[in-house]
Amino acid sequence: MANRYTSKLSWADVTPEHMFLNRRSFMAGTAAFAAGTIASPALSATSEYSTDAEPNTWEEITSYNNFYEFGTGKSDPAEYASALTTSPWAVEIGGMVDKPGSYSFEDIMSQMTIEERIYRFRCVEAWSMVIPWNGFELADLLNLAGVQSEAKYVAFETVLRPEEMWGQKRNFIPWPYREGLRLDEAMHPLTIMATGIYGKDIPNQNGAPLRLVVPWKYGFKSIKSIVKITLTDTQPEASWNMIQPREYGFYSNVNPNVDHPRWSQASERQIGGGLLAKRVPTQMFNGYEEEVAGLYENMDLKANF
Ligand code: MTE
Repeated sequence: MANRYTSKLSWADVTPEHMFLNRRSFMAGTAAFAAGTIASPALSATSEYSTDAEPNTWEEITSYNNFYEFGTGKSDPAEYASALTTSPWAVEIGGMVDKPGSYSFEDIMSQMTIEERIYRFRCVEAWSMVIPWNGFELADLLNLAGVQSEAKYVAFETVLRPEEMWGQKRNFIPWPYREGLRLDEAMHPLTIMATGIYGKDIPNQNGAPLRLVVPWKYGFKSIKSIVKITLTDTQPEASWNMIQPREYGFYSNVNPNVDHPRWSQASERQIGGGLLAKRVPTQMFNGYEEEVAGLYENMDLKANF
């Protein structure tokens, strides 16, 4: 059966060639790469997991954001996130792993295969986008650290740096922002660490230099600017779930049949569609049902929302 996410086009095919040529000559002419320039090779193969839905524009993806460390307005991250220093950057990987330690961003990137993944992205607030990420499978990073057999969950933390992230001076979220996945969710090939968008380094407002992307879950699970990954045998804390467990479950799989207590999840507003655009129906698991439904086979998705 034809995979409905298969697309033979990569952004290299449909983006004006001069953009890629410019980038290539820039890269060739740069003796010492700055940390970020290795994050998103301009020419990367598009994965079988990519949707063929039309991606949002760079402008839309990088100007309408949720990143509460920089304020709660949708344009706040684009305005304030440049204050975050993303180089040098390291991720501390610990807990139930064979090789715990501090992994520098460059060290990670030198061992990962960067792919393009064009994914649907559905926020719990009922808006959506299509985003051409560049990144690597989280499973590859976890395998690098060597996951031990007792591990059942993966916990993630965003950097805590109130001097650069003014939103962290206000205490409406228990900082640092944290999230978690079950180990099998984390190891699923759809789960990636994104390091780029449209072949460029991921901008700070989108979670530089590396952020999680779990396309079948509400966007808040896709934690940004990660500095800590811990393998555990107990379900980790997750920021929104800690604040309001009745509204934000640990799983938070996109599900049009389970409404948020304060609004419907049956449909979504596509960013870029214009003010008069009709809402479109939300798909089970955000359209990734075929790939991920098996992870939740014997679970009551209303109880485990
Ligand atoms: N990660 C951190 N650290 N802080 C945040 O406020 N917001 C989440 C998620 N990751 C958030 C975060 C929410 S609610 C969404 S919808 C997505 O990031 C938004 O990602 P985008 O701005 O790249 O579209």
